[in-house]
Amino acid sequence: MDVATPAQALWNQRQVLSANAPRLRSLIDAVGRPGDFSPPQWAQVSAFTLEFAPDLIIELGRGFGNSTCCFLETARLMQRQPPCQLLSLCLTNHWHAVTLPKLQALCAPEWFAPGRLIQGDILDYSFAPLLESAERVLVLWDAHGFEIAECVLGNLLPLLAGRPHAVIMHDMSDLRFCSPPRDYGDSGLWKGGHGVYEKFWIGHICSSVGQAISIIDFATRNSLPLHSADESLFAEFANDAGRREELQRLLGDDLFSLQGHWFWFTLNEAPEPYVFPRFQSDKGKLPQGERRGLFTGNNPLSRLLHAIMPKSL
Ligand SMILES: C[S@@+](CC[C@H](N)C(=O)[O-])C[C@H]1O[C@@H](n2cnc3c(N)ncnc32)[C@H](O)[C@@H]1O
Repeated sequence: MDVATPAQALWNQRQVLSANAPRLRSLIDAVGRPGDFSPPQWAQVSAFTLEFAPDLIIELGRGFGNSTCCFLETARLMQRQPPCQLLSLCLTNHWHAVTLPKLQALCAPEWFAPGRLIQGDILDYSFAPLLESAERVLVLWDAHGFEIAECVLGNLLPLLAGRPHAVIMHDMSDLRFCSPPRDYGDSGLWKGGHGVYEKFWIGHICSSVGQAISIIDFATRNSLPLHSADESLFAEFANDAGRREELQRLLGDDLFSLQGHWFWFTLNEAPEPYVFPRFQSDKGKLPQGERRGLFTGNNPLSRLLHAIMPKSL
């Protein structure tokens, strides 16, 4: 399956994005969390989605909803029949409590219609029924930790393998195309936190989220190409001032950047047979809040609980 790279998508969709840029900016302002998902990422992910033309988008991790808005807006632009659907899973209620009231002045009821926004645990969600009728699936993997990685790689991917799909991974940078400080500064080692200040550098990947390690392992075992947005943006535009300037003119300096800080892959590019990690939902073993809230961080309470709980938990 051929997938347009992020750079090809940006170029192919530049006029659509340019015409829609004022609306994209109002949505970005309404969400008000550009640090969670940067304006250039809105444009890049919107373009990638338009080119991929999924009939189903699965958003893992909504938070305050940058990516949710980006996908709902892109679903509107796609004008697909039947319309592209968005399944969004998140533990938090930020969307309903904070973001939704701000969007209601900007967006008609139809805009929200493709979205099925669930407040719940990704680890407990049963993806199979939804995927039965899906033809092209785009996944945004923006919820962190090794448990979710096991769920994505061991539960969701086997269901996607037989159909066209692509998975976008947020919070991973390509060291071949960006230059964060090499020194540790005041930081110790990355020890398993999510989105923390400490980062790990492995090969050309720099990240502070555990799934970056899990995907390196999975990609290596499956001979799966792991692409960064940046490698395509640099390859297409770094030495092409004409096209770069056109994109800058059409999108503005706020929405255009050669930096992506996201990766993507599709199992459709890997040779079969694929290998997957075992995933067992531990639903019911512990109350939900405890299982996810206390056991995933590297906080003192989590370490204490790990020390005193029986290993089988
Ligand atoms: C980095 S934020 C997502 C940001 C969002 N994509 C955006 O563009 O603004 C990650 C979210 O994943 C959620 N999350 C973490 N573990 C989860 C789980 N097991 N099930 C559902 N959501 C989870 C967190 O609550 C958090 O809101």
